[in-house]
Amino acid sequence: MTRAVVLVAAFMTCVCLWSAGNAKRGEELFNKMCTGCHGLDSAKEGPALRGVYGRRSGSVVYDQATLDRWLSDPTTVKPEADMAFRLENAAQRADIIAYLKSLPPK
Ligand code: HEC
Repeated sequence: MTRAVVLVAAFMTCVCLWSAGNAKRGEELFNKMCTGCHGLDSAKEGPALRGVYGRRSGSVVYDQATLDRWLSDPTTVKPEADMAFRLENAAQRADIIAYLKSLPPK
């Protein structure tokens, strides 16, 4: 009985961690996929991304849902968006967003 409860709790924790994304994996993905165009603290072709979570840009606020849409197709967030990158893998999007969220402010 107790063991079943523990198992269920462990399972739920796994599911939550998974759906919330994994910042460690996100960091690796970010370094592979994003740093060609983005620095954390310096603008390259795209803007610096530290603190982008919660940032307001025009009428858009970059929260979990907006960032997820942005990474799947930026033009669904801003029709005029000019970012030549799409990430179709939802788990990878969640990992990268978890990483962006986890960055301490500078
Ligand atoms: C080919 C270059 C390129 C790549 C690769 C790229 N971006 Fe971008 N990104 C841009 C450009 C350019 C903009 C500015 C677009 C605009 O405002 O129209 C942008 C904008 C953004 C914004 C909006 C920031 C703001 O303040 O408005 C976010 C968030 C973002 N990128 C995240 C990412 C992430 C995360 C990755 C990697 C998964 C990534 N980008 C990969 C070029 C790129």
